[in-house]
Amino acid sequence: MIRINENYLKLKASYLFSDIAKRVTAFTTANPDKPVIRLGIGDVTEPLPQVCIDALKSGAEELANRATFKGYGPEQGYAFLRDLIAQHDYKARGAAIEADEIFVSDGSKCDCGNIQEIFATEGLKLAIPDPVYPVYVDTNVMAGRTGANLDGRYAGITYLESTPANGYVPAIPPVATDLIYLCFPNNPTGAVATREQLTAWVAYAKANRAIILFDSAYEAYIRDPKIPHSIYEIEGARDVAIEFRSFSKTAGFTGTRCAYTVVPKSLVAYDQAGNAHPVHALWNRRHTTKFNGVSYPVQKAAAAIYSDAGKAQVKAMTDFYLANAALIREAVKKLGFSCIGGDNAPYIWVNTGTDSWAFFDKLLNEAQVVCTPGAGFGKCGEGHVRISAFNSRENVEKALTRIAAALK
Ligand code: MLT
Repeated sequence: MIRINENYLKLKASYLFSDIAKRVTAFTTANPDKPVIRLGIGDVTEPLPQVCIDALKSGAEELANRATFKGYGPEQGYAFLRDLIAQHDYKARGAAIEADEIFVSDGSKCDCGNIQEIFATEGLKLAIPDPVYPVYVDTNVMAGRTGANLDGRYAGITYLESTPANGYVPAIPPVATDLIYLCFPNNPTGAVATREQLTAWVAYAKANRAIILFDSAYEAYIRDPKIPHSIYEIEGARDVAIEFRSFSKTAGFTGTRCAYTVVPKSLVAYDQAGNAHPVHALWNRRHTTKFNGVSYPVQKAAAAIYSDAGKAQVKAMTDFYLANAALIREAVKKLGFSCIGGDNAPYIWVNTGTDSWAFFDKLLNEAQVVCTPGAGFGKCGEGHVRISAFNSRENVEKALTRIAAALK
């Protein structure tokens, strides 16, 4: 008899953004004359930077020619892209990361979800922020690292609470944990972590022989020069951290698909007998077994953002979304809500003080604006909603006018 992985039965029936999509589809089907503005899922709306379009085209042309045609590429990514990443995203910031420590992939969601597979299932102590991008929790539930969900919390997880009281940056837990998820700039709150805060996390991970999984998919939105873009800007982090980065929000690649994960060669994890093993070798084994690389034209397009023109175009695009974010922040404050984010991140986390799904429904039904209910990101997300700055200026302005009218 074929049997299922019963851990899946512990999950909420569907993924947060699928739940939201269902409600939006039900609304638009019932109200075809009421166009909806989507400030929910963080999906980009602006066209790819011109340098990326040019590189995609020339990459495709190379595939049209026998002399330059390419079949399978290296699973870890082409050297031309890994070299540029190491140089511009790390060495230029004083972070000692080598090109062969970078694994190019088709997305940070997949990498964040897949990475846990190389660590033990039994007895591993997890520390996961709340609220948080749901993939971190759900993939560990699927793997069987948690107990049942009781009252919105899975047994076996140390939740790192982000609340108004701590400025939405969680404190280091008073207990030892082994696998720690951190995301800065944060999804969903938009909060950032200071150098001092990250230094304390690195020291905690070292003291506990733990590993930090650092998701910095939104680093291109950091404007405060004091805020680190990478955990490897912190001394010693390469011995305790894996970092996830993506071209999705940096350069509009949500549909084009390209990301990377950094696994330093000095990072180790232990077997049951306490022997240390390099994590790089394990991830390389997993990656080469289960992944065949990102397409050549897409890697060419990603590489194009590191040219001078590419950097300027990425800056213009992220500045554009941050200007949307500033409008949202201002409008939300005018309505009397407190909020954070939007200054170094494309998300604004609004403290509504009310049931977050009810607030979501109100905005959908009365303003035809989609946000993301905070409860979908965890228990501490209740009483909040996330508003995304990813949309056209026209739509953001229209949405803010409609929200103001609905909440009058
Ligand atoms: C979000 O809205 O949280 C993100 O777009 C989801 C993702 O990046 O997968």
